[in-house]
Amino acid sequence: MWKGRFEKDTSSLVQQFGESISYDWRLFPHDIAGSIAHARAQKVAGLLTDDEFSQIEKGLREIKADIEAGNFEFRTSLEDIHMNIEAELTRRIGAAGAKLHTARSRNDQVATDTRLYCRTQIDELACAMAGLQLALLDRAEKYAATVIPGYTHLQRGQPVTAGHHLLAYVEMLERDKSRLVDCRKRLNISPLGSGALAGSTINLDRRAIAAELGFDGVTTNSMDAIADRDSIAELLFVISLCGVHLSRLSEDLILWCSAEFGFASLSDAHTTGSSLMPQKKNPDVCELTRGKTGRLVGNLMNLLVAVKGLPLTYNRDLQEDKPPLFDSIDTLHLILAVNTEMIGAMELREETCRATAADPMLLATDLADYLVKKGVPFRHAHELVGKAVAEAIRTRTALDQLDLAAIDDAYGPDAKDVFSLDRALASRTNPGAPSVENVTSEIARWKAALVR
Ligand code: ARG
Repeated sequence: MWKGRFEKDTSSLVQQFGESISYDWRLFPHDIAGSIAHARAQKVAGLLTDDEFSQIEKGLREIKADIEAGNFEFRTSLEDIHMNIEAELTRRIGAAGAKLHTARSRNDQVATDTRLYCRTQIDELACAMAGLQLALLDRAEKYAATVIPGYTHLQRGQPVTAGHHLLAYVEMLERDKSRLVDCRKRLNISPLGSGALAGSTINLDRRAIAAELGFDGVTTNSMDAIADRDSIAELLFVISLCGVHLSRLSEDLILWCSAEFGFASLSDAHTTGSSLMPQKKNPDVCELTRGKTGRLVGNLMNLLVAVKGLPLTYNRDLQEDKPPLFDSIDTLHLILAVNTEMIGAMELREETCRATAADPMLLATDLADYLVKKGVPFRHAHELVGKAVAEAIRTRTALDQLDLAAIDDAYGPDAKDVFSLDRALASRTNPGAPSVENVTSEIARWKAALVR
């Protein structure tokens, strides 16, 4: 495609080193859509006859069908998806094919294809995230009233409902989705027409091309448009963050499934056994989600480091943007699908959850609040309850069995009522708090929002 000034063929080792067709082939539907829009603008500009345009369009559509059917041989010697398609088009239709690359460079072409690809993937990922939200919502509904301990520092803190805990992840996924939407807005601008770096002396209607491709507008600086990989970096960040959220969910589930916690059990279909220890049931999906999140974060770093030292505009380094992009997208799709299935079938052991949450120590804060309501300043109340806790530990007595009135006369005879677990939860009704009442109305809100 550039042989004019060269006397020797590219070494086969360099071909192997420089090819991207082994992975960028998947841009083909976008490359073809971009080429058809570009050709149409050439026709409007009088650079192609109607007949030439029709040949190009027909040829490209046939190539697309052949690729989809697996009847297309990609050639490493043609380096990338752009040249593979263009060379095949010209082989099939002759002279008209050779006109297609007028007023275009692979630099604006690859930037365009990648944005179109990201846009499609963003929509699919958002859909998959909503699917996982629905699975979490379903479990949150089933276990809306199941009491579990809430933790800070992985030390039991205060009782919460399992529904509340699960809905926390629905919130995170909602923010991940909104980040995708935001990222989509910024990337849905057409770079096509930026040429190699400085546009072209042949003016095609960039806005018409952009509109045909579903872009919201055209980029306003050709050098920026060629050199920019922001949208990929941003998408890789959003993907990483979603991975981090699901990695935390995984960690919760790994703990919950341990004998030490005993809160949850995963289906046999979503766990594995040990080849040596017959009793084992391992939460591999959770562990792999946690492990693969490392890859997602690594892919983001990979791209940022690749771009950081590059002068404007295109440098071949930028070809290295796609392996991390494709890997992150594939990996997150898999993570979302498998977690949706696994969460949907997850069961909680409600008695164990409740028994663990029934430790009266978890209501020490409520006891301090009780004293506050009797007029004791909080810092003083905290200290008084701290003394009661120490006394309970020293005398190996449950906190709710202590003679509190003997410790301080601020405690009335109603102090014991504080230790009713259900009452304690029911009183957490402020917006965002974990009462069953709140969780139930949150579930209704999420259902309305997600099942639209
Ligand atoms: N395969 C290349 C990439 O992915 C396409 C752009 C090539 N441009 C160039 N000037 N060599 O970046």
